[in-house]
Amino acid sequence: MQSKFAKRVATTSRSFTRTILDLTAQSDIISFAGGLPDASLFPKALFKNYANALFEKDDNLLFQYSNASGVEALKIEIAKQYDETTSKEIMLTNGSQQALDLVCKTFLDEKNCIIVEDPSYLAALNLFHMYDADIKTIPLHQDGADLTSLEELFSTCKPKFFYTIPVFQNPTGYEYTLENKQEVARLAKKYDVILLEDSPYEALRYEGAKSTSFATLLPELTISLGTFSKTLAPDFRIGWIKAPHNIIEALIGSKESTDLQNSKFFQHIAAMMIQNGDLKRHTQALIAHYKVKRDTMIQELEENFGESISFVKPKGGMFIWVNFKNCKDSMQLFESAIQKGVAFVPGSVFFADKRVSSFGRLNYTNSNLAQIKMGIEKLYDAYAGFN
Ligand SMILES: Cc1ncc(COP(=O)(O)O)c(C=O)c1O
Repeated sequence: MQSKFAKRVATTSRSFTRTILDLTAQSDIISFAGGLPDASLFPKALFKNYANALFEKDDNLLFQYSNASGVEALKIEIAKQYDETTSKEIMLTNGSQQALDLVCKTFLDEKNCIIVEDPSYLAALNLFHMYDADIKTIPLHQDGADLTSLEELFSTCKPKFFYTIPVFQNPTGYEYTLENKQEVARLAKKYDVILLEDSPYEALRYEGAKSTSFATLLPELTISLGTFSKTLAPDFRIGWIKAPHNIIEALIGSKESTDLQNSKFFQHIAAMMIQNGDLKRHTQALIAHYKVKRDTMIQELEENFGESISFVKPKGGMFIWVNFKNCKDSMQLFESAIQKGVAFVPGSVFFADKRVSSFGRLNYTNSNLAQIKMGIEKLYDAYAGFN
């Protein structure tokens, strides 16, 4: 049967994303692996109130077919987050993962060059691979993109887009400085390259001021993606795309051929939660919880590992990107950590060439404080074997 599969499926190895989710589901393993929010914080009571309000309206059209771009009230609320933007420049998607897929479907022909940060978001790398893109990488630094490499690629390979996660990047947690973003935007304009800006973690900021997005710096060439997965709940499956109107029109055509539309039910709930200020209040509560978790994990890492590891303290998001300096191949540490009952994601899976790496990604949002403490101790137990 496998021989009948399309090449894009046959050449894709079993995704590590599934391995991560399988591990997360195992109750005897403390998982720092997935990028999961804390399920105990989902505001179920609020969801229930809003769902009841929707049913009370007794409007059967809620369950009828409608347009592919999503519920107008929610698009209007999202447009307000951006400068001088109307709902015509917004479309809603089935999570930002579908937004990525629709951008690929709309822009990529076989072997088209695209540029990604090295390392980058695993599920995006898999997706780009499935679209048979010619994936070029640029080094990602603590303060943003490597500008020399970027300019060289912009000028030589005519990329269809540069895929960037500029705020609390997955997997590193790094954030581009404004100066770095301004330079990236200047280069994109000079070489006429689209910036595909993926920003799922922006709302989870524990320190510092809101950053200026590429959507603000270079609106005519930026496709910006957002999601409610990290603030409301992943199961809402509501992501969005903000882009120039002509690009949105093309993306809507691609979405129609994929799934016609999303369910409107949660889109209406999200719109009402924004209008009534509930999303803002809930996000502030999340930030307070997650900040404590981040600080606890950092303290445990410092106390247990001391100078034997290094990392940059993330100012937001969900991850700490740790350099396990005593272990050249963190895949080996991963195997040993699983035996001790703790999981993380080995760094190599985030690099386009899957090279051996001493880094690992640790998630702190999905575990409680006792699990964070115990998990880091178990991880050190595994790491001690590599000294
Ligand atoms: C960088 C990045 N982009 C996109 C997504 C997909 O999010 P969703 O489809 O749930 O909106 C994730 C999820 O973890 C992510 O980390």
